[in-house]
Amino acid sequence: MNKAASVWWQAGTIYQIYPRSFQDSNGDGIGDLKGIVGRLPYLRQLGVDAIWISPIFPSPMADFGYDISDYIDIHPLFGTLDDFDALLEAAHESGLKVILDLVPNHTSDEHPWFVGSRSSRDNPKRDWYIWRDPKPDGSAPTNWLSEFGGSAWQYDEATGQYYYHAFLDRQPDLNWRNPDVRDAIYEVMRFWMRRGVDGFRVDVIWHLIKDDQFRDNPANPNYVAGRPPHETLVTLYSADRPETQDVVAEMRQVVDEFEDRVLIGEVYLPIDRLVAYYGENLGGAHLPFNFALLSAPWHAPDIADLIARYEAALPLGAWPNWVLGNHDRPRVATRVGEAQSRVAAMLLLTLRGTPTLYYGDEIGMKQVPIAPDQVQDPFEKNVPGIGVGRDGCRTPMQWASETHAGFTSGVPWLPLGDDYRENNAVALAVDPQSILTLYVKLIALRKRTPELVFGSYDPMETQEAVLAYRRTYDDQSVLIALNFTGEPASLHVGAGEVLVSTELDREGENVPGPLELRGNEGVIVRLR
Ligand code: GLC
Ligand code: CA
Repeated sequence: MNKAASVWWQAGTIYQIYPRSFQDSNGDGIGDLKGIVGRLPYLRQLGVDAIWISPIFPSPMADFGYDISDYIDIHPLFGTLDDFDALLEAAHESGLKVILDLVPNHTSDEHPWFVGSRSSRDNPKRDWYIWRDPKPDGSAPTNWLSEFGGSAWQYDEATGQYYYHAFLDRQPDLNWRNPDVRDAIYEVMRFWMRRGVDGFRVDVIWHLIKDDQFRDNPANPNYVAGRPPHETLVTLYSADRPETQDVVAEMRQVVDEFEDRVLIGEVYLPIDRLVAYYGENLGGAHLPFNFALLSAPWHAPDIADLIARYEAALPLGAWPNWVLGNHDRPRVATRVGEAQSRVAAMLLLTLRGTPTLYYGDEIGMKQVPIAPDQVQDPFEKNVPGIGVGRDGCRTPMQWASETHAGFTSGVPWLPLGDDYRENNAVALAVDPQSILTLYVKLIALRKRTPELVFGSYDPMETQEAVLAYRRTYDDQSVLIALNFTGEPASLHVGAGEVLVSTELDREGENVPGPLELRGNEGVIVRLR
C-alpha cells in the first residue's frame, strides 16, 4: 500500500462505542449521545480516527438496540436526531469519522414492517419476512437453530405459519430475496449518509440470505459439549449462502454513491470464507471484520500461524484489519490477563491492517462478574449458566474515581467494575506507565510511522515464546518483538533503537543486535 493512495479507514484506528455504557448525561443510568459529545476530547487525546457506535435507533431493546423498530430515527434514551446531528458535527470538527451500526438482517417484531407482515397472509409486507408453512406434522419448517437458543422458527397462531429468526423471536429476519426489502434498507443507508455519516458496520452480514430450498442444516461433528446449543449444527443452509455476495456488492454500490465512506461487515467465519466478503474484484465490504484474535489461543506460534494464514488468504489489493474486543466477546484483559493485555495492545497497533479497539480496553477494563439477578443480556437469559453472557463486557466506562466512575449521576444500568477507583481514565492518563499511556503512545507512533501502517508484514522465525516481525516501507524497517510468556527471552534482531516498550521505560535504548525481553514485554525497535 502506498501512503499517498491511502484513505482514512486504512490509515486510521477505529474505536467502538457501546452507547449505553459510554457516558450518561442525564442521570438515567444509560449512556447517550450528549454523553458521547462530552467525551470527544478524550477520544481526540487517545488519538483514534473514527468511532463506530452500536445501534442508537428506536428499539424495544430486547437485544439492546440490535432489534430496531425504526431505522431512521434516534431512540429517546439516546437523544434526538438533532442531538445526532450535533454529535456528527462535533465529531467531524474533532477530526473523527462516525460509523453507524446497520442492522439489516432482522428488525424488531415491533417494526411496522413486521406488524404488517404478521397481520395477514396477504398483507403487502408479508413477503418482507421469511414465512413458511409447518411440516405436515405441525413442526418447524427446518431444523435451523436460533443463535440465542431454541428453534429459529416461531409459529404464529393467527396466520398459521412460522417465521424465521436467526436471533431472538423478537428479531424476525427480513427476506433479502425480496427486492423491496433491499431498496428499503438501501434508502436507510442513503438517509444516514446524506446526513454525513462516514460509513456502516453491517451487523451479521453473512446471515442475510438463507437457502432457497430450506434444507436442514447438518450436525456439527466438532461440537464441543458445554458450548451454546446452536453450535450443534453447521449453518450450511442458513448462513453464508453464495447469493449473499450479491447483496454485499449492492450495499457497496450504495456506499460508493457517496464519497469516502466505508463498508465494514461483521463476519464470524473461518479465514478462507471471511475473505470472500471483500467481494469479487474487491467490490464487497472494504473491511470484513477479522475476529481471529478474539478466539485464538494466546500463544506465539498460534498467533504467528493465524497472521500468516490471514495474510496469505487476503485477495490481491484487499486491506486487512484486526479486532481485539467487542460487545459480544469477553474483555481482552480478562481473556489474556492483565500483563499480556499490553502485549495484545502492541500487537493490534503494529499489525498490517486497520485496528479496531473496543471502548474501555485502552484502560484495561476487565470482564465484570454479573450476578444472576443482574443479568440483562437475552442470550444469557435464554442459555443460562454456560458463560455466554455479554453483560460483563458491556459495563460502564470507568472514567474517574468518583461515585459510579463518572459514568452517571444515577444508577448505572449494569454494575461497574469494582476496580474503577484505581483503574479509570483520569488516574491512568496521568500515570506515565499505565496501559492508557501505552495505548496513546502506540496510536501516536502508528500515526507518525508509515512502516506501521503501510509497511509489509515480514515474520521472523517463530519461537515458542516470542512473536517477532518486521514492517518495512520505503526501505525503512521497524521490528516488533512480543513476549507471550512471563519468562525473559532474547532474540537477535539486528542493530537499532527502541521506540517503545510495553513497560514504557526503554525509549531510546540502543539495541546492539540481540534484544532482551522481560516477561510479558513487547518492544518496537527502529532498525538501522
Ligand atoms: C451481532 C451483534 C450482537 C447481536 C446480534 C444480533 O452479532 O454484534 O450484539 O446480538 O448481531 O443482532
Ligand atoms: Ca442517559
